[in-house]
Amino acid sequence: MATGRNTGFTVWLTGLSGAGKTTIGHALAAELERRGAHVEMLDGDVVRTHLSKGLGFSREDRDTNIERIGWVASRLTRHGAAVVVAAISPYDATRKRVRALVSEHGPFVEVWVKAPVEECARRDVKGLYAKAFAGEITHFTGVDDPYEDPEDAEVVADTVALTPETSVALVLAELERIGAVPDATPAAC
Ligand code: ADX
Repeated sequence: MATGRNTGFTVWLTGLSGAGKTTIGHALAAELERRGAHVEMLDGDVVRTHLSKGLGFSREDRDTNIERIGWVASRLTRHGAAVVVAAISPYDATRKRVRALVSEHGPFVEVWVKAPVEECARRDVKGLYAKAFAGEITHFTGVDDPYEDPEDAEVVADTVALTPETSVALVLAELERIGAVPDATPAAC
């Protein structure tokens, strides 16, 4: 566990496609930057075009993807970054493994970005649920592939009930509670 100045941390946003991970992640990253943190965002969709290019959606490939993201997150955490991960990360055992990896260097805050599959399908921002229900995409998380509810989430952000701003505030409150970020300072007069 890292001690001393400039301690990094990782916020790990897990949840179904379309639940709101990227939206909350971007808003959180902006607020952390505003507070002076060195922020790096690792978004599953983006990572899959670089570090995890060529991987698919079998359990094995998803685990490889998540473990790569976890490894990068742990290295960045070690160097004092505020890391924001947004990835479905559907398997609890794999989330536990990346938690252990990151926790060697700094706090790991798991956030369950929670919305039922019916709501994600109604939003269907990328049009993928329509394809999954039509059978044009198989092994789609929440449709014909599993999502294991988090057992260890420090924060549950129910995106049906909460605005993105409120979800971000919940995460920030947890980061403040554990001392990972200083309390918000009022604007100087
Ligand atoms: S994870 O399971 O390995 O954590 P990741 O977050 O990187 O997934 O990527 C998920 C994104 O890939 C989704 O938001 C969606 O845009 C796209 N995608 C394509 N096929 C699938 C699928 N079968 N299941 C889930 N997401 C898919």
